[in-house]
Amino acid sequence: MMFFKFPYSRPRRLRKGENIRKLVRETALTLEDLICPIFVRYGENIVEEIPSMPGIYRYSVDKVVDAVKEIRDLGIPAVILFGIPEKKDDIGSDTWSDEGIIQKALRKLKKEVPDMYLITDVCFCEYTTHGHCGVLKNGDIDNDATLENLKKQVVSHAKNGADMVAPSGMMDGMVKAIREALDEEGFSHIPIMAYSAKFASAFYGPFREAAESAPSFGDRRGYQMDPANRREALKEVLIDALEGADIVMVKPALSYLDVISDVRKSLPLPVCAYNVSGEYSMVKAGGRLGWIDEKKVALEILLSIKRAGADMIITYFAKEIALMINKREI
Ligand code: PBG
Repeated sequence: MMFFKFPYSRPRRLRKGENIRKLVRETALTLEDLICPIFVRYGENIVEEIPSMPGIYRYSVDKVVDAVKEIRDLGIPAVILFGIPEKKDDIGSDTWSDEGIIQKALRKLKKEVPDMYLITDVCFCEYTTHGHCGVLKNGDIDNDATLENLKKQVVSHAKNGADMVAPSGMMDGMVKAIREALDEEGFSHIPIMAYSAKFASAFYGPFREAAESAPSFGDRRGYQMDPANRREALKEVLIDALEGADIVMVKPALSYLDVISDVRKSLPLPVCAYNVSGEYSMVKAGGRLGWIDEKKVALEILLSIKRAGADMIITYFAKEIALMINKREI
């Protein structure tokens, strides 16, 4: 072990200059890691910035094409779509209507930006009057009734052009139900990215403003995971893997790097991490106050998520990071 003893060992030798630092660098952030979230809303000619998420916009269907073209031109391979429908009801029927907001966006995007990979967030909270992620019965979510509606939603997404579906509602049995529904309707080639370990997190605050999806009563702790539980995350991931998930997700990312690392080591599926709205807004706010260098902080956070084991990252920083990569700033 002499080798590791000072003065033989001088780790600083490998930090002397950018070239050698590059050669020994273990983790890199690339364009291929990025998935960009997109909010599509009803109406026409609308591009509106989300107040708590500077730089992130809600687009009407006629405006979303240009936004996605820009993302494609930056070299980002995929977007994940979230919808804000014109009318909500108590079951979220917009989610499986051919005239639903996501269906309209899918048809347009598939036609006009065919080389972009389109992922859809599959849930109900943006589409229900009560803001919960399924069908309500006696003040609680009826799990199995919700599965029936989830099946209709994914089949409708697939028919209208989704390349992949990403169920985020944390219903038990959702991956199995969705896999079966897709297969029965001739969509056995459409993969499922399951929000497997999704925690009941305060970091979703800005998203709920953006997507108008805050629950009108109570909270989501009856279906999303307790932030205290690390082992249970593995249970959720294993269940989803056995039900047929192609990709598993950990969400949020930054406060759950241990979970990302566990998942990476425990099973051979690709792992996605969702760098959520609150993680984005905090960095933006700190930057605006002049208290942190937001670009550098964003990069460090995303790098840490990759280092923990994520194969891909859903992040509101996607465009900014892609720009930096393209300019060879990183
Ligand atoms: C549910 C969904 C949520 C997010 C993604 N999908 C909100 C929630 O569970 O309350 C949060 C994403 C973010 O905060 O960026 N449709």
